[in-house]
Amino acid sequence: PCHAVPCHAMPCHATLYQATQCHPVPCHAVVLCVAVPVRGGSALTPPSPGTTWMQEILTLLYSRGDALPAKTIPNWERAPWLEQIHFRDALRDTATHRLITSHLPARVLAPLLQGSKAKVIYVARNPKDVVVSFYYFHRLAKFLPDPVSFDAFLQQFLEGTVHYGSWFDHVKGWLGQRQLLDIFYITYEELHRDLRGTAQRLSTFLGCPLGPETLEALEQHCSFSAMRDNAMTNYTLIPREIMDHSQGKFMRKGVVGDWREHFSPLQNALFDRVYQEEMPDIDLSVHWSM
Ligand code: A3P
Repeated sequence: PCHAVPCHAMPCHATLYQATQCHPVPCHAVVLCVAVPVRGGSALTPPSPGTTWMQEILTLLYSRGDALPAKTIPNWERAPWLEQIHFRDALRDTATHRLITSHLPARVLAPLLQGSKAKVIYVARNPKDVVVSFYYFHRLAKFLPDPVSFDAFLQQFLEGTVHYGSWFDHVKGWLGQRQLLDIFYITYEELHRDLRGTAQRLSTFLGCPLGPETLEALEQHCSFSAMRDNAMTNYTLIPREIMDHSQGKFMRKGVVGDWREHFSPLQNALFDRVYQEEMPDIDLSVHWSM
């Protein structure tokens, strides 16, 4: 169904294949930042598990700490969305590494990456905070239906009938690619806990040197407050008809455990039950709070 895989994403696969297989490649061809779950699927992009944060970290890593690209180029141009219809154009002028962002599930995207030179970074977030963040994003994004209520939205999330489908299937699908892809798993909560350490591990994974000055610049520029105030990352450049910032901010709270402010005990019990059913023995360390 279209809510699970956006129809307009399909033509992009040929482009991705070309990008990963055929283009002359430097040290690493394509870094895919696959974030879950998945808001968006429109030409404009979406929020929730820390996609924008990872895009910013990678920008600073590759610029060796120079904040100029991050301050002058919108993030959707620096790390374009695979689901965007202009994706092919976005790739054309890239001379060195390419950063691509996607929310597509593994069953759609992973087969195209297997055997390629792509390095994949998978960002996940504790799903209770995801529901909350995603709920507010729906209110902000005029290309998504307005949620009737938080309770109704939570039900949809648990049933997997939100945009891009089931969070549980998305995570399980990509975790299953461990042996098949050159893949780096990270959670939003780990970024919070240890941004420096994560940046260092990412630099090793990508083969991209990271000196102390770069690290300092990265930490400063990728802070919540710096990104909230940066028009290139906070989506305020997007016209109001598409994202209505009078309804809230894209860079909303940026904390771990905000679900506690939103879930009733009943909703929490239901969520825990579904989580246990869907994710038995799954190797994903979810941190529900800091
Ligand atoms: P909240 O809605 O909980 O505030 P995505 O980019 O995948 O859509 O994720 C958006 C979420 O990431 C939002 O969560 C946003 O505030 C949070 N976020 C983005 N940059 C961040 C940062 N530098 N530090 C902490 N959270 C950040």
